[in-house]
Amino acid sequence: MARESRRRSWAEPFKIKVVEPVRMTTREDRRRALDEAGWNTFLLRSREVYIDLLTDSGTSAMSDRQWAGMMIGDEAYAGSENFYHLEQTIQEVYGYPLVVPTHQGRGAEHIISKVLIQPGDVVPGNMYFTTTRLHQELAGGTFADVIIDEAHDPSSEHPFKGDVDLNKVEQLIAKHGADRIPYLSLGVTVNMAGGQPVSLANIKELHGLCSEHGIPIYLDKTRVAENAYFIRDREEGYADKSIADIVHEICSYTEGAWMSGKKDALVNIGGYLALRDQKVFEEASNMVVVYEGLHTYGGLAGRDMEAMAIGIRESVEYDHISARVRQVIYLGEKIASEGVPIVKPVGGHAVFLDARAFLPHVDQDDYPAQRLAAEIYLESGVRTMERGNVSSGRNPQTGENFRPKLELVRITIPRRVYTQSHMDVVAETIWETWDRRSEIKGLDMVFEPTYLRFFQARFRPQE
Ligand code: F0G
Repeated sequence: MARESRRRSWAEPFKIKVVEPVRMTTREDRRRALDEAGWNTFLLRSREVYIDLLTDSGTSAMSDRQWAGMMIGDEAYAGSENFYHLEQTIQEVYGYPLVVPTHQGRGAEHIISKVLIQPGDVVPGNMYFTTTRLHQELAGGTFADVIIDEAHDPSSEHPFKGDVDLNKVEQLIAKHGADRIPYLSLGVTVNMAGGQPVSLANIKELHGLCSEHGIPIYLDKTRVAENAYFIRDREEGYADKSIADIVHEICSYTEGAWMSGKKDALVNIGGYLALRDQKVFEEASNMVVVYEGLHTYGGLAGRDMEAMAIGIRESVEYDHISARVRQVIYLGEKIASEGVPIVKPVGGHAVFLDARAFLPHVDQDDYPAQRLAAEIYLESGVRTMERGNVSSGRNPQTGENFRPKLELVRITIPRRVYTQSHMDVVAETIWETWDRRSEIKGLDMVFEPTYLRFFQARFRPQE
């Protein structure tokens, strides 16, 4: 009779070669730091943070191979070897023939929005992302959410909450006409929904519908390897496929992509546009010289492009991506085991606390998720971020807060940086904050910047 293995199924698939000390602080230190930072975790100094789970963006640990790659940076202004290595890697791993490097994801979003969008256009997408939507708006477009309804419900256990609702796309086409829809913006995974994946079945159907109407799909493939892991794990017919094959297949249904290399691609800085259409490529590579740098470096040092090329290959290795996603799931399940409300299922890059259910007594215009992120920091020095009413911003027509259905705190896990013991400390911190939830009040916003207010807004705690 087969005996069930007593061995846990995975551990971090690396050994630690270099360490960076982290520093604990006292509650008094943290209270002072919060007051100085206007109760916005983006405004804390890194030295005041014990475990930094603000973002998975640019916070990865690079491998020894990537560091070795940094030493062979070809810092020529034009035609750097590292650009050609990056281009070839993108061609092979993702299948897009044309590459325009940018300093990070939003550089690519800026350019692709300007190239594709005409004033008055409508851009459908599977939930907004902050910088993506802003660049679409700055180019004269209006974002329209076409994600399935389940994505807005933290308790729905739908396995692919990032899926697009094809009826919503059809309605948009009927209302505005396909010629007012320059492209469909498809995020994999969907950050603001909780790191939720999109299924390949949905991407194929969407591709069919969009092709009928001549609407290209452009992919935000910032976390495509994490999405591929979920497809392999959950979607019928993919259990025996490699992550690389699934990633390639996802991209094959799209006309182009933008990428923040700071996530999946395991680098501290970098991004690019990857394209098939020659005309779009020509316009983008002309525009990149205005805003980013020459079309063979796009704001990056040669060494950064080399590190990204190597990181792209590492990102589609099964051992890496499975340990990465399962570490996030481990944390999410541990937090939820004490009854703390989180977005289910746990996503690929972060655990999202449902601040609406955590602090039901705080009105959304008193920013419960913002306050909760600050309270978690106060508890133990763990830094997280708000993803709710502050991030969502105001309706430009009415001036009212959007009050999105999802009022979340994101506990984001950098790749290859923290161990399981760190995850345990984080879960214990959340439990302690949960135990005193009834005492936690809201915040008043005392400073509001014009763009992407969540980065720099300041608050005062309601006592
Ligand atoms: N698209 C998605 C889905 C993202 O998550 C991000 C960044 C971007 C585009 C923009 O890329 O930062 O390189 O300019 N997300 C970070 C985060 C900031 O914390 O989620 P970028």
